Amino acid sequence: MSNEHAAPLLVLLGFMGAGKTTLIHLLSKHLGCPLVDLDDAIVAHHGPIPELFRQHGEPGFRQIEHQQLEQTLAELPRPAVLALGGGAFLQAENRALLERYQAVTIFLDVPFEVAMERIRDTGAERPLAADLSRLRDLYEARCPIYLQAQHRIDAGTSDPEHLLTELVRLAVRLGVVAATRDTL
Ligand code: S3P
Repeated sequence: MSNEHAAPLLVLLGFMGAGKTTLIHLLSKHLGCPLVDLDDAIVAHHGPIPELFRQHGEPGFRQIEHQQLEQTLAELPRPAVLALGGGAFLQAENRALLERYQAVTIFLDVPFEVAMERIRDTGAERPLAADLSRLRDLYEARCPIYLQAQHRIDAGTSDPEHLLTELVRLAVRLGVVAATRDTL
């Protein structure tokens, strides 16, 4: 399975509002490789995320998320870029899957205040952001696990192009793209 994949799969992870979705779009365009946003894949196969939380609770949503991750990892060609939802990397079985498929995991590290600013009005789309008073605890509990990713990028800046440059540099180091003057 995973040993057959010579070119890397770059996986962006981090808290809600870290910029994962924006950055996989920029990165996939820059690298000319396919992308999957795991949340979008879940919606396409199973329906809207708030509805899944309502029908199945968070544990049911996590099962669906795990199945979708497994399917995505099995199907995605390499190289490719993948964005996880903010809770996916928290599940040990998802981390094991990513390891099995030799994914390169990249934590987009944003300060709590930045994430909060970006998600404060999105409670309708993000069930876990509906109760803002719980968010700091959630953020603090999650950060040590996000730090288990292989790479960390300081993503506090509001300039996505700057972050894209950082990610492309990393992609060059990992051999996803040939080094160019622009990226070094
Ligand atoms: C979640 C984050 C969401 C989505 C779901 C649960 C989480 O994705 O997967 O609402 O547990 O942090 P984003 O991080 O893309 O908002």
